[in-house]
Order: sequence, then C-alpha cells, then structure tokens
Amino acid sequence: MGQKGQSFQLIGTLALALCFLPAISAQAVHPVTGRRIAPVMGLGGADWLDRNEREGEEHPEKAIAELDVKPGMFIGDVGAGTGYYSIRLARAVAPGGVVYANDIQPGMLERLSANARQQHIDNIVTILGTESDPKLPASKLDLVILVDVYHEFSRPQRMLDRIRDSLKPGGRLVLLEYRKEDPSVPIRPEHKMSVEEVKAEVLPEGYRFEKVVDTLPWQHIIFFRKPATASEN
Ligand SMILES: C[S@@+](CC[C@H](N)C(=O)[O-])C[C@H]1O[C@@H](n2cnc3c(N)ncnc32)[C@H](O)[C@@H]1O
Repeated sequence: MGQKGQSFQLIGTLALALCFLPAISAQAVHPVTGRRIAPVMGLGGADWLDRNEREGEEHPEKAIAELDVKPGMFIGDVGAGTGYYSIRLARAVAPGGVVYANDIQPGMLERLSANARQQHIDNIVTILGTESDPKLPASKLDLVILVDVYHEFSRPQRMLDRIRDSLKPGGRLVLLEYRKEDPSVPIRPEHKMSVEEVKAEVLPEGYRFEKVVDTLPWQHIIFFRKPATASEN
C-alpha cells in the first residue's frame, strides 16, 4: 500500500473510533446528571450479599413492611443477586403471588435458586436479563424493586424504559439506595445515590414521584409510579 493508501486507512480508523466514542462515554456517566456509573458487582460479592450483619445494617423486614406487599401480588426484583430480598418478598406475596427475580449473571441466579430451595420457597421465577433488558413479563407487575443495583445499570435509561413496560398501569417502582447525602454511611461514593440524583434520572423516563422513606439505617427507599392512565403522562 502506498503512502496515500495508508493515510486513507488511518483516517477511516479514526472516523470509526469517533463514531463509537459517544456510546462508550455514555456508559460511563449518566447523560442527565453526569453521575459516574458503578461497576457491576461480580460473583465474588455473593457472600457479602448473604452476610449475617446485613440484617442489622439494612433492616430488610422493615423495608418490606414499607412496600405494602400483599398475597397474590406479582413483583419484579431486578438485579436480585443471591435473592436476599426475592426470598423475603416471595414469602410476603404467598399464597398466589410470584416474584420474578432477574439478574445478568447466571451464577447469581444459580445461588438464588439454591437459597430459595433451602428455604422451601417455590414462588420465585428466575430470569436471566441483559444490561439493557430485564426480560420481565409485559404489563403484569404490581411492583418492581431495585435494591442496591440502579447505580450499577450501564444502560439506566433503557432499563427504566423496559421496567415501565413490565408494570401494570399505576404499578410502583421502588429503589433502595445507600444515602449519598450521609457521609457516615460506609459505602464507596459511586455505590451511593442522593434523592435528587435519583429523581433527576427516573422522572424523565415516564414515572411519577411518590415519596421517600428514610426509616432505614443506611438506605433511602424511593417510590415512583407508572402513570395509571395515558392522560396522567
Ligand atoms: C450489589 S448487587 C445487589 C443484589 C441484590 N439486589 C441485593 O440487594 O442483595 C447488584 C446486582 O445487580 C446485578 N446487575 C447489575 N446490572 C444489572 C442489570 N443491568 N440488570 C440486571 N441485574 C444487574 C449484578 O449482577 C448484581 O447481582
């Protein structure tokens, strides 16, 4: 190849790289708030999710009581990990209810299924999703819960869009996130979120804000709702 040919090849390569640049940087920070997106917790974190101290740090039963969950409900637990919340929610919706426990890591879902079997829970359906689609059933869910996971979504806008499709009209989306406003919460900054940050990112994706409950030791419980009618949009 002559010098001219090599120059054309270099220009072509640079042009291609520039095309991909926005997509790469859009994954690293949220386009609305500029928040740095946290890396996904790997399988090595599974023991940490099931640690005994978690009960005292998070008061999961208190969190679930705030959700007003009833027997017969259909609930999505997105980024369910080892099932710490899925299992508790499955008990709360029995009889008749189902928890759809989603994750992007097959290893997490395997451990979740083993934990559920050990505790004789049979109303959890596991769903392997992708980073942009949780693959939940359409227009079926009363509630979708995101516990300590939203800040890890590499495609947060796509995920919120898909989650909205899975909710019934008027169904709720609830996020539990470590309080960024509170420096005494001993969690790395990119794994914490402020209420203002969450609202700024979730509201443009077609949800209504309902309330924040701050009765847990370390986490916000932030409630949103899918509009019940088209005119509410
Ligand atoms: C910090 S763990 C929390 C697990 C669980 N919610 C809990 O509180 O025990 C985050 C989990 O979210 C999963 N995750 C990250 N991004 C995801 C996505 N886009 N869709 C589904 N799961 C995701 C990870 O694989 C990991 O299991």
